[in-house]
Amino acid sequence: MKTTYVYLLSMLFLTTACLQTKSKDNEESGAGNKFQEKFRPQVHFTPQKHWMNDPNGMVYYKGEYHLFYQHYPEKSVWGPMHWGHAISTDLVHWEHMPIAIYPDSLGYIFSGSAVADHNNTSGLGTKENPPLVAFFTYHDMKAEKEGRFTEIESQAIAYSLDKGRTWTKYKGNPVVKNPGIRDFRDPKVIWHNDSKQWIMSIASGQVIKFYSSPNCLDWTYLSEFGEGRGEHGGVWECPDLFPLQVKGSNETKWVLIVNINPGGPAGGSATQYFVGDFNGKEFISAQSKTQWMDYGKDNYAGVTWSNAPESRRILIGWMNNWEYAGEKPCIEWSGAATFPRELGLVKELDTYLLTSEPVKEIEKLYGEKVEFINQDIKGIMTISDRIPFAKSPVDIRLRFDIADKTKMGFPSKYGITLKNSRGEYITVGYDNVDSFFYVDRTNAVGEVFSEKFALTHIVPFIANGNYADWRIVVDKTSLEFFAADNKVVITDLYYPTEDFDIIEIFAENGQIRLGEASITELKSIWK
Ligand code: FRU
Repeated sequence: MKTTYVYLLSMLFLTTACLQTKSKDNEESGAGNKFQEKFRPQVHFTPQKHWMNDPNGMVYYKGEYHLFYQHYPEKSVWGPMHWGHAISTDLVHWEHMPIAIYPDSLGYIFSGSAVADHNNTSGLGTKENPPLVAFFTYHDMKAEKEGRFTEIESQAIAYSLDKGRTWTKYKGNPVVKNPGIRDFRDPKVIWHNDSKQWIMSIASGQVIKFYSSPNCLDWTYLSEFGEGRGEHGGVWECPDLFPLQVKGSNETKWVLIVNINPGGPAGGSATQYFVGDFNGKEFISAQSKTQWMDYGKDNYAGVTWSNAPESRRILIGWMNNWEYAGEKPCIEWSGAATFPRELGLVKELDTYLLTSEPVKEIEKLYGEKVEFINQDIKGIMTISDRIPFAKSPVDIRLRFDIADKTKMGFPSKYGITLKNSRGEYITVGYDNVDSFFYVDRTNAVGEVFSEKFALTHIVPFIANGNYADWRIVVDKTSLEFFAADNKVVITDLYYPTEDFDIIEIFAENGQIRLGEASITELKSIWK
């Protein structure tokens, strides 16, 4: 049963008329349930046990979203890579499956993708029962130890004839041999309808190389993209190439996602993207400025689902950063996926910008909801007193009235803070003097485990218009912040000694109106 609280406040700070209906759900505490360890995310995918990094092989097939992931099943640190596996029918609830692909004498199983080969172009299935084909990188540790650098990485195939339950490695592996490049990995394969061929994008040092194939098995080199383009502060990894229709128009552009490590805007791992055209041979982009998909520190190696229904472009990333992954305080398991995000494309003047927002299926997790209307914020207003589920994961929506942003009396900073009674907190804010969004997690961990963690991450952005709409998906140890019509995203982790259960809205040196706000409980995906 849902409870709805509606808080109406006229102009006066903290004078609240509260209309309250129905009673709180009599929810069980969760004690004795699975996945209830300290720090365990409740609305994000995590492996049952031990290490996970990149999401891999995401493909939708016969009503099921498959999620594979870089997995070391023995320990909660990186090690010999397998492909772990999970299945969902709604993108939010996941069933853990047995390990899909094991390392062998050719190497560890590094990141990659999967497709539904509907026309059985590969001949690995039949017309009646077409195969799912997975593409991964073999990483040969022996070659690496012996310094045979150009023999370390090559691309290989495994296929499934039983809806992804079991996988057979192709006998002719590898299908793309190493062309003499040390870092040559993370094949992402798509079907290019215009040229009627498969296209594989491979991260190759600091460029992306494209290959084509009629049958998933025989690959021909086409071209490369990246020299002198975007950021080059680290190695390029995990590419993705896909078309997206520009919002409000009939124009379709191609997006090339390129993960980079290190060299991100917040330090360490991050995701840049390029918008342009792909003609079946070359990717061409006129974009001159680097564009980041996320300005936080904890969204890496994100790629999108193949074959998703209704041409949706859904991305999931690894919610972590190579600067400290493995050091963070998780014992039973390590690593989580971001909340799945639907991508879109907008055009502003001559610039194409990617947008990301939590998939609408998040609504399947909705519980109770508390709404606030017309609150004038001056200083700090604690709202959690009115939110019985303030400790749970929540979906927060805030609409600030910023029409007066250049006038006297408008605050220098405003935003929201999540905290606990021990003085640990994380703040999401906007600096109206220097025009940037920020997430301050300098005091968001109990135990310091990395010098690179406790920092503030910012996004330079001039907020305009009359309203600023913010969305924040909060879990036990993460927040995902979406603003500026989903063009600004910050994903950041935190590890407080005790759960954050205090929620404050603040305005510094002035007053701002919070026109509308809602805090919606998110029910655990594991219960
Ligand atoms: C990205 C990455 C990939 C590689 C995998 C190894 O996080 O480094 O490039 O395939 O992780 O686990």
